[in-house]
Amino acid sequence: MGEKNGRALERIVVTGGCGFIGSNFVRHVVREHPGVRVTVIDKLTYAANPASIADLPPERVRLVVGDVCDASLLDRVLPGHDAVIHFAAESHNDNSIADPGAFVRNNVDGTFRLLEACRAHDVFLHHVSTDEVYGDLALDDPARFSEGSPYRPSSPYSATKASSDLLVRAWARTFGVRATISCCSNNYGPYQNVEKFVPRQITNVLVGARPRLYGSGRNVRDWIHVEDHCRAVWEIATRGRVGETYLVAARSERSNLEVLRLILERMGRDADDFDVVRDRPGHDRRYAVDPSKLERELGWRPLHTNLAEGIDQTIAWYRAHPSWWLPTKRATEARYAARGQ
Ligand code: NAD
Ligand code: DAU
Repeated sequence: MGEKNGRALERIVVTGGCGFIGSNFVRHVVREHPGVRVTVIDKLTYAANPASIADLPPERVRLVVGDVCDASLLDRVLPGHDAVIHFAAESHNDNSIADPGAFVRNNVDGTFRLLEACRAHDVFLHHVSTDEVYGDLALDDPARFSEGSPYRPSSPYSATKASSDLLVRAWARTFGVRATISCCSNNYGPYQNVEKFVPRQITNVLVGARPRLYGSGRNVRDWIHVEDHCRAVWEIATRGRVGETYLVAARSERSNLEVLRLILERMGRDADDFDVVRDRPGHDRRYAVDPSKLERELGWRPLHTNLAEGIDQTIAWYRAHPSWWLPTKRATEARYAARGQ
């Protein structure tokens, strides 16, 4: 059932529920919130894997294969639901450089269509966004992003996420759509597509290939376990203040080289057993996020505070689930090879 002191959520729509964070969120809700029923809307792009939620009870989770840009589909599905938790997006920076149009369509138009449907059917919307909307920080800048930081996106991906956030803010203020936004830092954990940094390196080692580091490896990311992000999204969706943005992070900044060496060490490889490849154009230098507002207002805290333990658990998951990731590994690496990465 819904929460005692907030929005009662009993029937929710989760967009992008066959992707990495969306599927972890659906699994979290099924495990931790027994009265809640979930309708997943997912277009099943290359990034989706329906197997990530296929073992969940059908009386709790229903999958609707469809596009959030399809207004008539949203008009059919949304009525009768208390909230939409909106994860669906094209999410990979490198792909946004190769094909930005798909990002404008899915991330900007998709969020616009959802906002219109939430407005028409008076459904609450939680919009899942990213710390990348704030651009990047210099490596030696002691600052962290906060909710008041200016929007300064630098990649086509982050520009479309920033655009979708602005639409949510405008629809909340002008049309009174009940909405919250969260901007989270880099997630890691199970069910992440092997195109992303952590699973790419782990699965490279597992298939006997060398990990690939972009440029100097000095770029810094602020890592959070996906389960901590999912708990934060639930807290914000049920108890966050309408119209507000909350930043989500576990204060765990590491350079890419540090994370890669951690993976190599935990997998029993030599610290230099990797290749340096072509850098990402416009590569953001450093993300660092201050989650104080979320901690202060909603009492959220990360539970996974030891990155080495979280990486160990993630390595063990990929070792145990080759059938989940192996079918897409070759095509992913072929795409990277074509880009010199
Ligand atoms: P992902 O690429 O693993 O999954 C995205 C899912 O959305 C896929 O299942 C895909 O099929 C679906 N989808 C895409 N376009 C769709 C459309 N038009 N209609 C219906 N479904 C569609 O992404 P992820 O890493 O799980 O990210 C989820 C969300 O969280 C994104 O909005 C992303 O911007 C945000 N985010 C991600 C991170 C991270 O570290 N991965 C951090 C902060 C925020
Ligand atoms: O900060 C939140 C963002 O984190 C999310 O909004 C995005 O959806 C998510 O993809 C992630 O973006 P990044 O671009 O930071 O993640 P990615 O996994 O692509 O890369 C992490 C860092 O590692 C980045 O500095 C690029 C580098 N990298 C990446 C790959 C795939 C490498 O050095 N080698 C690689 O093979």
